[in-house]
Amino acid sequence: MAGHELSATIFMLFVFTFFFILPSISLPFVVLHGISDSCSKTKVKRFTKLLTNWSGCQGYCIEIGDGAWDSWFMPLMKQTEIACEKVKKIDELIDGYNLVGLSQGAMIGRGLIEFCDGGPQVNNFISLAGPHAGIASVPLCGSEVVCILVDYLIELEVYGAYVQEHLAPSNYIKIPTDIKSYLKGCKFLPQLNNEIKNRKNSTYKERFSSIEKLVLIMFENDTVLVPKETSLFGYYPDGSFDTVLPANETLLYTEDWIGLKTLVEAGKVEFINVTGGHLEITESIMKEYIVPYLEDEDLMQIIVRRSSIYRWFLRLWNSFMELLFGFPEDGLNDNTMKLLSTE
Ligand SMILES: *[C@@H]1O[C@H](CO)[C@@H](O)[C@H](O)[C@H]1NC(C)=O
Ligand SMILES: *[C@@H]1O[C@H](CO)[C@@H](O)[C@H](O)[C@H]1NC(C)=O
Ligand SMILES: *[C@@H]1O[C@H](CO)[C@@H](O)[C@H](O)[C@H]1NC(C)=O
Ligand SMILES: *[C@@H]1O[C@H](CO)[C@@H](O)[C@H](O)[C@H]1NC(C)=O
Ligand SMILES: *[C@@H]1O[C@H](CO)[C@@H](O)[C@H](O)[C@H]1NC(C)=O
Repeated sequence: MAGHELSATIFMLFVFTFFFILPSISLPFVVLHGISDSCSKTKVKRFTKLLTNWSGCQGYCIEIGDGAWDSWFMPLMKQTEIACEKVKKIDELIDGYNLVGLSQGAMIGRGLIEFCDGGPQVNNFISLAGPHAGIASVPLCGSEVVCILVDYLIELEVYGAYVQEHLAPSNYIKIPTDIKSYLKGCKFLPQLNNEIKNRKNSTYKERFSSIEKLVLIMFENDTVLVPKETSLFGYYPDGSFDTVLPANETLLYTEDWIGLKTLVEAGKVEFINVTGGHLEITESIMKEYIVPYLEDEDLMQIIVRRSSIYRWFLRLWNSFMELLFGFPEDGLNDNTMKLLSTE
């Protein structure tokens, strides 16, 4: 057998072996629930369980504090820090994970992606009714006991230190006619969206634009989020309530503060509009817009994308060739991998 034929045969063997050694590269996923919810509530449990069943991937609902109460009264930066520590402690997430964020949980999710130093890499991020560009009114609380406190806090100055420290949704309230106070007093969203001049952190943008897929889901009849288009990064222009700008007409997008434009231009963002009110998640929404982003991906693409495995593969291959033929300089290089990954 001629040398190059042998080497081609060995190469194919190697590739096939690789496919069979690593079929378990399916990534786990994390669910972050919304305000007033907790991982122990039937609805959230069922959601996580169904996604696990349909995707075939392990799901983890991550609780912050005691769940419902803390979701209202713990500042979001603190909630994000807790979530960050938790994902670091789950060994199964070490190779990366997909993230499903519900409403306020989507804000914590984005906080995980942007702020969590040393945390595992987020692969796909699916956001359902996340108030990404802010909300211009406080979500309706309802009639539970907790609401007496919520309503009391809302009466106080929303951008004051006390409310910011004690009412989670105040951390993403953005009153378009009071941008100055918002930028000065709001403790989470301006940082998350890299909105403050001279305080933009390119690390946040780098991290957010390094995810593989961003799925933004808006509920067409959402009356909790004002405006509902915030779920797709749309918002009022500064100074007015008259119109809602689509994401791509906001400064966050045009000046690419967090990498949203980068992601869109790379074809990595889905803007989805579904029927129903706030978080009225049907099984068909789950099957159509969540499950496909949790399932196993093409193995070769994951290998190429994850440079550590990729480099390990290259090193292994090159030393293998060197062992056999003693010509490491003819080893596998970037172009070979690119060819492989395009099938
Ligand atoms: C997944 O759901 C199907 C039908 O809905 C059920 O038969 C099956 O037992 C479930 N599998 C697991 C692992 O829960
Ligand atoms: C930007 O954020 C990163 C990650 O949290 C942090 O290490 C770095 O110090 C920040 N840079 C500035 C200028 O604040
Ligand atoms: C939902 O919103 C659409 C327009 O966005 C409207 O046509 C429809 O009537 C609404 N449905 C309900 C049930 O409110
Ligand atoms: C924004 O996106 C919409 C829909 O994709 C597109 O039709 C429109 O031209 C875009 N506008 C700008 C300013 O890029
Ligand atoms: C959402 O989709 C429906 C049709 O499915 C459409 O009537 C509605 O205008 C859309 N809303 C937005 C804000 O794109």
